[in-house]
Formats: sequence, structure tokens, C-alpha cells
Amino acid sequence: MCGIVGGIAERNVVPVLLEGLRRLEYRGYDSAGLAVIDGKNIRRKREVGKVQGLDDLIKADPMSGSIGIAHTRWATHGKPSTTNAHPHVSRNRVAVVHNGIIENHEDLRNAQKQLGYEFTSETDTEVIVHEIDHALETADGLLNAVKQTVKKLEGAYALGIISTANPNLLIACRKGSPLVIGVGIGEYFIASDVAALLPVTQRFIFLEDGDIAALQIDQLVIYDAEDNIVQRPIKESQLKADAVDKGNFRHYMLKEIYEQPFAISQTLEGHFINHRLQENSFGHNAGEIFDQVKSVQILACGTSYHAGLVARYWFERLARVPCDIEVASEFRYRHPVLAPGTLVITISQSGETADTLAALQEAKKQGAKYAVAICNVPESSLVRESDLALMTRAGPEIGVASTKAFTTQLATLMMLVIAIGRRFHLPNALEEKITSELFALPGKIEKVLELDGQVSELAEQFAEKEHALFLGRGTHYPIAMEGALKLKEISYIHAEAYPAGELKHGPLALIDADMPVITVAPNNSLLEKLKSNMQEVSARGGQLIVFMDETLVPAQDGNVQYIKVPQIENEVAPIVFTIPLQLLAYHVAVLKGTDVDQPRNLAKSVTVE
Ligand code: G6P
Repeated sequence: MCGIVGGIAERNVVPVLLEGLRRLEYRGYDSAGLAVIDGKNIRRKREVGKVQGLDDLIKADPMSGSIGIAHTRWATHGKPSTTNAHPHVSRNRVAVVHNGIIENHEDLRNAQKQLGYEFTSETDTEVIVHEIDHALETADGLLNAVKQTVKKLEGAYALGIISTANPNLLIACRKGSPLVIGVGIGEYFIASDVAALLPVTQRFIFLEDGDIAALQIDQLVIYDAEDNIVQRPIKESQLKADAVDKGNFRHYMLKEIYEQPFAISQTLEGHFINHRLQENSFGHNAGEIFDQVKSVQILACGTSYHAGLVARYWFERLARVPCDIEVASEFRYRHPVLAPGTLVITISQSGETADTLAALQEAKKQGAKYAVAICNVPESSLVRESDLALMTRAGPEIGVASTKAFTTQLATLMMLVIAIGRRFHLPNALEEKITSELFALPGKIEKVLELDGQVSELAEQFAEKEHALFLGRGTHYPIAMEGALKLKEISYIHAEAYPAGELKHGPLALIDADMPVITVAPNNSLLEKLKSNMQEVSARGGQLIVFMDETLVPAQDGNVQYIKVPQIENEVAPIVFTIPLQLLAYHVAVLKGTDVDQPRNLAKSVTVE
């Protein structure tokens, strides 16, 4: 999704801005641009495609400046093109970069046309820059012009603004889209994600909704939504600049798949004493919140939604906690009814997904008393807006296709199932068993990663396929969904998941020798049922690929290939069975030569609706 970087310094900020854009590439984008103030002019360069293209343009025709803004754009209003790329400029006087969506852009555009403004793009953003320019006619300086302008904007935005009217002032505004200020020594930077600024600072100020910040080399003033001057705390980021390096791996995604054993150990760390979960490790108010739970409502998007689907089985089957789940974008508009005592659990890697944030607000509006976030980014909006945050400690996830965030979400959800389940019907013995399984997970995952070579050979059968079906039952149905999502996200093969029992109600019609059917077959109480479903595929000449618990004896009939997954106890098996499906998608994508870490049209963090 769109990324913002900006800076004001003694030095030339162009290299810092370009490096910042590179560090935001993982979020997904289709064009990039940069503008600086150079004397009395705004100089700007924009390019469709990779940041490297913009870099090449600047190398060919160098530009520099001690104040500038830059952007990676992910098209919403208007196709990816140079003219739609940011920064947008009005009358060589104001330049703006924008994340988010301005909902009343049409009205503003019509009014500005009457005033003689010419539009050079199809974006909603262009109205912001013209509005500021128009306000400059009467306002006392850029800051006041911006303050007047934002009052007229409806929708969500993070903005970086520069103007030749005040060439030593960088303005940053935040409403609904994240924006941070990086505090350097005698210099300030802005970005939509701390990762962009790690090479220049570890010290950050997180703007709050409605904030407008005026940055000069030696001074920073922040105004809140009511126009009061406010102090926001400076926070030290624990992230190191090299935390977002690929290391020796060819892609971030592969690195992140291999980081899972460590990420899960980190996530469990500090929550247990003598293998007993300490719920106060989640926060001083955790016990009080859990005591009031009568049921659970999970809200999430994408991969995080799949983690929630697994958790629903766990909450109900293991602990008899009533649990509902819905994709956030549906929940937010459905006028849902929440029974008293419903605990809202949001799940999000980034903590900035617009739909998940809006669903949380809707849940609060519908009377939810408490909201718990499961999130990977401590400084995110979701964490700040929740009563309790359970952090996954996966480390920065750069690959757009989520991997280690998913498995750490599952480990965290299982801890939550234990904590809440104790108040319901989770037997002690089962709690102890699950706890041991959680602790055994990193070792089990190490073993599953040894299947990499085998899975990579298997991938060769997929490179020419156009469709694939994934089957699972029980907790492994969402794992099949996640496997299908991974495959379609990065290899662009159309993949769908079905609960295996549903096969005969339609998808069986698709089965022929060209349709690979990937089945997740752990050794559990549903195995016999699943075997019948597999036979339905074999009998129709389908090509079965079965990820099977190693303790099982494979049947030899039909067109079937088995990949034996190291034995795993039942409850956490979904976490383990996810790994080979991630590897499969990865290797298929590599064979197809797609952009594994930044698949087309997708964004890492979807901060617009
Ligand atoms: C985007 C990403 C997915 C992610 C989803 C939810 O679609 O490409 O990988 O699962 O957003 O993101 P979140 O940060 O809320 O988990």
C-alpha cells in the first residue's frame, strides 16, 4: 500500500528519501516519486514501476535539496501512471504526498475547477494540493493554509507537504492513516512506517489522529485535532536497521518461513512459569477482562482471518467458549448484534488494516466492552485502540504473503484459548497437554522445514497449472484456505479451498487429471472421513497430493503422491501443516518467475478501505 517518506535537514535528503522508499517497497506499490525544494522551485521526478527506476531517473538528472517528500503509490483512484504518481504539485508552489482516500474529492474538484485550477491526474489526492495552494492566497503561511484545508477533507489521510511559500517547513498530518516522525540530530523525517527511517534514527514520535506537525530543522510543533499544541512522547524503536535485510535468503518470504521456529519461541517467551501460562503476562488488566467473557467475536482480514478461523475451532472444541468470526470488511457494515459479555478479538499483523480498525470501532459502537488485539506491531493503531494487546513477536514481516505472522498468531491465539478456556471448560490435563505441544512446536517446525527439497520437487508439477483445489477438515480446513491463498497470492494460480466434506456438493465437477487436489491429512478423528473424500477424487481420475502425518500408512491406489509430515500432537497440528503449504507456494512462484515478495496488485498493509 502507499508509502510516505519526507525529511528536513542540513544535508541533502534525496538519498535518505530514496532509501526510505526502498524500505517501503515490501508494502506493495506501482509507481514512485520524489520532490524537493530547490531555490524558488519545486523539483519533482516520478516513475511507474520500481523505486530503482526513480533512482535511475535521478542519477541521470541529479536533484538535491534539504527538504523533500517522496511516495510509493498503490493505485486506488486512477490507474498506475506517471501523472497519477505522487508527489502532486499545484502551481509550482505546493507539493503533497498522500496515503488514504479523500471521499469528497469530486465536490472539491468541481469547486477548484471553477477557480481555474487545472487537473493533471485522476487521483483524489490532487484536490488536496490545489486546496492548500488556494488557501495560501489568504492564509498566513503554509501551516495555516494546511489547517484550513484539512477541515474540508473527508476520508482518511496521512500527508507530507512542502511549499515554496515556506521553504524551511515540512508539514505532516494524520487522520486514519499511520504517520510517524523520525527524530534525528538536527534533522526530522516523516514516514508511514518506522522501517523506512531506521537507517537515520531509532527515535520516533507516533502522531495521533487529527495531529498536524510543523517540522523545521531545529523545531517541531504538534497541534492536535482541537488545534492545541501538544507534546507526544518520543519512543525508542527496538528494530535495528538490518532487521529488514534478506540475509542469505533469495527472498524475504523464504527467510520468514525459516524464521518461524525462532518467532514462535519468542512469542511464547515470558508467558509461562514452569510450563504454566501466566495470564498477567498479557497485561495487568488481563484477568479482569477475561473474567467477564461470555463469548468471543473475532475480526480480521486475509491471512489473519484464517488464523481466527482456526481459533474458532479451538475456542469451541477445546474450551466450549462460544466463538464467532467474520471478515472485518463485512462486519463493519452489517449492523451486527453483540451479546453482552462478548469479547472482541482483532487479529492483524500490521495493526493498520483499515477494515479491521473500522470493524473494531463498529464493535465498540455496538456495545463491546473489551477488545483484545493480536498484533505484530507494538506501535500500531490497533494496539493503541484496544484494551489489551497480545503481541506476536515475529519480527518485521516484509514478504507481502504472510507466513511467520500467521503461525505466531496461532500460537498466541492458543495461549488466549487457554487463558479464557480456564474460565469455561478447558480441563487441566488438556491445558497441560496443549502447553507441552506449544513448547515442542519450534523443534517440530525445524523438522518440517527439512521437507523443503521434496516440496520444491513437487512444485515442478504446478508451474504449468492454472487451477488447484485444497482440501481439509476441522481445524485443517482453514489451513487449506491459507495454503490456497498463499498459492494464488504469489504464483497467480487460481486456487480454492473446500472443507473436504463439501466436495461432492459442487467442486467434484472440476476434478480431472489436470486439477491438482492438495489435501491436508493429519492423524486425527476426521481422518477416516477425509480418506473417503480423497477416494472421491481418485475415483474420478483426480491428481491427489497429500500432506500426511508420517505415522499413517499411505494407500497405494490412484494418482496419489504423499509427503510425510513429522508426527505432531493433534491440537497444534494446524500450525505445523501450514509450513509445507507455504513452501509449496514459494517454490511454485519461484519456478513461475513471479515477484515473490511483492506480488502484483497486492499490498502488505491495506490502509484504505
Ligand atoms: C493484506 C496482506 C495480507 C494480510 C492482510 C491483513 O491483504 O497482503 O497478507 O493477511 O492484508 O493484514 P493484517 O496486517 O491486518 O494482518
